[in-house]
Amino acid sequence: MKTPLKDGLQQVIAENRHRFHMPGHKGRQDFLLPLQWDFTEISETDDLHHPVGILKESQEQAARIYGAKETYYLVNGSTGGLEAALLAALAPGDRVVVPRNAHQSIHYGIEFAGAEPIYLMPIQGKNGLVAGVDPLAFRSVIETKKPVAAVFTYPTYEGVCWDLQSLIAICREHGVISIVDEAHGAHFSFFPSLPQSAVEMNADLVVQSAHKMLPAPTQTALLHRGSDLVPRAWIREALRRTQTSSPSYLLLLGMEEAICWMSRQKDPEELPALESCRETIRNLSGIELLEGENQDPYKFVISALKRGLSGPKLVQALRVSGIEPEWQRGDQVLLMGAPYQSRTAGIALIKALDALPAGEPIEGSIGPRGIQEIPERVMTTLQARRANRAWVAMDESVGEILAENLTPYPPGIPAILAGERMTKEIARYLKRMQDEKGTIYGGNDRIPIVCELNG
Ligand SMILES: Cc1ncc(COP(=O)(O)O)c(C=O)c1O
Repeated sequence: MKTPLKDGLQQVIAENRHRFHMPGHKGRQDFLLPLQWDFTEISETDDLHHPVGILKESQEQAARIYGAKETYYLVNGSTGGLEAALLAALAPGDRVVVPRNAHQSIHYGIEFAGAEPIYLMPIQGKNGLVAGVDPLAFRSVIETKKPVAAVFTYPTYEGVCWDLQSLIAICREHGVISIVDEAHGAHFSFFPSLPQSAVEMNADLVVQSAHKMLPAPTQTALLHRGSDLVPRAWIREALRRTQTSSPSYLLLLGMEEAICWMSRQKDPEELPALESCRETIRNLSGIELLEGENQDPYKFVISALKRGLSGPKLVQALRVSGIEPEWQRGDQVLLMGAPYQSRTAGIALIKALDALPAGEPIEGSIGPRGIQEIPERVMTTLQARRANRAWVAMDESVGEILAENLTPYPPGIPAILAGERMTKEIARYLKRMQDEKGTIYGGNDRIPIVCELNG
C-alpha cells in the first residue's frame, strides 16, 4: 500500500526550507509532538477542502480500500462528518427518520439543516442491549411519512450489529437517502470475519470514527460516499461548514498511517484468540457477557451482579487490577478492545474478571434498560432553548418541558431533547445516572425547564 501523504510531506521536510507559513511552531522538534510533520496548505501539501495532490491520492486509496465511491478524511470526528452528511442530504423542512438511540451529533445535524425528524424506537434485546430498527415499522414510516433520508446507528456503541441490509434495501426501493453512523465500525472492512460494513452494503453515506477502532489519533474520522444520490459538491460544501479551514496534518497523516497498518493485517491471528477470550469470559462463574446476535468481538459488555458487584463496584475492582473500562451504565460495564491492542490485554482482562471476589449475588435485571418511550414534543428545540428557564431537581421535572437536551455521556445519546415533556420513566433513568455520579450534559445537577416562552 502507498503512503502518498507521508511521502509528500517527507519530501517537503527534506527541503528544509524556513517555514514562513502557518502553523506557528515552524516544524521545530523541541516539543513532545512531532510538529515537523504539521503543515498548512502550501503548494506541495495539498488542501483538504480542495484536494488535487497528495491528499487526493491518499483519500482515493482509502476509498479503494473501503470500497467507497469516494472517501473524505475528517478532522472533527464523526460528529463533524454526521453533521455534514445531514446538511448535505437535507433541505429545510425535509423529513428524516431517526432512531432514538442516535448520537447527539445527529440531532444537532438535523437541527442545523432545519429538517423535521421522525423518531423511531429501536429494538431492545432481552439482555437490555439496543439493536437496530424493525424493518416492518421502518417500511410503514417510509410509506406514510415520505422522508427524504433515514439515519441508522450501526454498530451500536456496544458493538451490536443487526440487519441493516434490509433497511438500506427499503431506502433504495423508495429513493430515501441512507446515512449510517458507523462511528464504531471503521475496522469492519479489513477482516472478513468481522460483521459487514455499511460501506459494503452500499449505504449512500457512511461516517466512521477512525480514532475509535483504528490506531488513529483522536478526532480523526472518515466519510464514505457510496452512491451519487447526494452530489459530491453538496458534501464538499457541507464539510467546509462543519470542519476547520486549517486541518491538522498530524491528524491527516495519522489517518493514512492507521489505514496502512490495518491493510497490512492480512490474516489477523488475534481474531481466533479474541473469540477464545470471549468464550473463556462466557464460562467464568458469576460473570455475564452481554452480546448481540451479530457482535463485534472487540467489544465486551460485562455484568458481575451474580458475584455481588454493582456496575460501579465492578469498575473499581477492574481498575485495581490494572484494567480501565470505557464506561459503566447501571450494572453494565463496557470494555473496548481494538485490532491494535496487544494480545496480552485479553489475558489480563480474563485474569482480572476471574479474580473478582465472589459475593452474595445481587437480584434484578442487569439494566438500566434503555428508555422505551418517545416523549411528547411540545415546541421546537430552539424555542425551548431560548425560553426563560427555571432549574429544578430531576424528580420535580416530570411533566415539565425541557430547555436543554439531557445527554448521558458516554455514550452521548440524548435521553430527552429540548422542547420535549419529561416522563416518569426518563426521569427515573436519568436520576439513577445522577446518583451514580455519571455525567449528564445539560443537567448534571438541577434540570433546566421552560417556564415562559420568549417572543
Ligand atoms: C454512535 C456514535 N456516533 C457518533 C459519535 C461521535 O463520534 P466522534 O467522537 O468521533 O465525534 C460517537 C461518539 O462516541 C458515537 O458513539
